[in-house]
Amino acid sequence: MRKPIIAANWKMYKTFDEAVEFVEAIKDRIPSENKVDAVVCAPALYLPTLVEIAKETDLAIGAQNMHYEEEGAFTGEISPKQLEAIQVDYVILGHSERREYFNETDEAVNKKVKAALAHGIVPIVCCGETLEEREAGLTEKKVTNQVKKALADLSPEEVQHIVIAYEPIWAIGTGKTATADDANAVCGHIRQGIEELFGKDVAENIRIQYGGSVKPENIEELLSKEHIDGALVGGASLQVESYLKLLEAG
Ligand code: G3P
Repeated sequence: MRKPIIAANWKMYKTFDEAVEFVEAIKDRIPSENKVDAVVCAPALYLPTLVEIAKETDLAIGAQNMHYEEEGAFTGEISPKQLEAIQVDYVILGHSERREYFNETDEAVNKKVKAALAHGIVPIVCCGETLEEREAGLTEKKVTNQVKKALADLSPEEVQHIVIAYEPIWAIGTGKTATADDANAVCGHIRQGIEELFGKDVAENIRIQYGGSVKPENIEELLSKEHIDGALVGGASLQVESYLKLLEAG
């Protein structure tokens, strides 16, 4: 059985005070049966403080991006070594917003995945198609290719620690969710691709989230599907009660 993982992606929202207030408010309210892994991926500025507040609770803290180099002259970047040193547990990699606005390539995502694993940070690797690609029937090809490139040269042992997030770009922040059946079909396809590359055990164990306008009203149906093991949530993760409802659905 795969344990669902519900990760908040706050993107570039919240001031420091708002972030602290949120984590203080939820840290002891994570559903106690421990049925889901709860993660908050916050702006990098706040990570050390949030990690400290969430210590010894069931809440994990993640970053939203990082560079793949250990250190060096890379102005404005944050390294896996730096994230490891402050005990960040997760990092979102290859989000479509980073691919679109910051020219992140599949090759860079692959280097970042390797670097995160080398530093004991769990990568949440994003993939997803545009509306044009979906309408042209290219969804499966696009996501399989992105996943294949992101996981290039990794061993099955490494891959089983990774989380994949399937986020159709047309569903992000638009209020349009893929139907649970459609999302499940694509996640199933990704799992199939992973089986071909890394074997059945890895495919059965790896967690695949859905992301794109997930909210308390639709999460239960999404999570009821065979291949959907959680959610990566933007807008609906910004309010305490809404995020807690998502966790309770797990
Ligand atoms: O990474 C999560 C995200 O891209 C989905 O955003 O606001 O549609 O839940 P949202």
